Amino acid sequence: MTKTTRRTLAAAAIAGLAARSARAQAGFPNRPITMTIPFAAGGPTDIVGRLLAESMSRELGQPVVVENTTGAGGTLGAQRVATARPDGYAILLHHIGMGVIPTMYRRLAYDPVNGFEPLGLVTEVPMTLVGRKELPAANLAELVALMKSSGDRFNLADAGIGSSSALCGALLANAIGAKPTVVPFRGTGPAMQEILGGRVDLLCDQTTQTTEYIRGGAVKVFATPSRTRIATLPDIPTTAEAGLPGFEITVWHGLYAPRGTPAPVLARLTTALQAALRDPRIVQRFTEIGTAPVSQEDATPEAHRRFWTADIAKWKPIIEATNGYAD
Ligand code: MLT
Repeated sequence: MTKTTRRTLAAAAIAGLAARSARAQAGFPNRPITMTIPFAAGGPTDIVGRLLAESMSRELGQPVVVENTTGAGGTLGAQRVATARPDGYAILLHHIGMGVIPTMYRRLAYDPVNGFEPLGLVTEVPMTLVGRKELPAANLAELVALMKSSGDRFNLADAGIGSSSALCGALLANAIGAKPTVVPFRGTGPAMQEILGGRVDLLCDQTTQTTEYIRGGAVKVFATPSRTRIATLPDIPTTAEAGLPGFEITVWHGLYAPRGTPAPVLARLTTALQAALRDPRIVQRFTEIGTAPVSQEDATPEAHRRFWTADIAKWKPIIEATNGYAD
């Protein structure tokens, strides 16, 4: 075979591959998409993810199947998507962990920033400090006193280093100078079961899971670490109102694809995300569980990247100052 023939054949092969990839993108999606949730089923990320997946399935004409890949504070699920084939069939719903993990975890088997294409923000969810029903504290001041006097006999549940519950718990413990025993779970879904069973004392968790337990009186609620009260749970004081100023955290969520996913595929996924966030069923259900879809402008890759970058910069000095590394 001459050099020219070889070059011609190689060029034809490349053209063939490019045409096939363009056809695949044009037909996207033509099979189910997997949405990885990096925390346990039944918890707050899972609740938001399943609502989103159902609505996106309708929009995309293909099932968006939720799979929970749990453990290591949400990093195992993130790794799964960062290292997946970048064809749009693997997407990730993750939260504020995407802002803290790049600093908190100094050794990861994936790139926690450059491994992803942000597709758009999804929600911002307030948190609540909830305790087992029999906890001997009637308000935040009494809870603080109890935590301080109990030392490591006080149990604080969370979803592992890098999770929002762990972040909230660490901020609380630092703010009041308490040293509780931290009990990590694969998500706050299972952690909540232990609160309900009275086997752990306290959990800082999102309203998307806690609302119904608070309303039903199944847990004791102490405060929300938010700037303002939660519209759907207006009786709960903010931490500042309850005597603990400067302790604030809310949980943002965003949708991601692996880095290298073709632009038309990313655009299709963002369009489906935006449609889902306009879906009246999502709007209603999000409202019932204390949150709201972000605006259409924020459900874009550009707004998402801006917000995410700013969040990494916000948490970096805090993690460094408190030596809050995972390793
Ligand atoms: C979950 O879905 O289990 C929670 O969002 C984990 C967390 O506390 O961040």
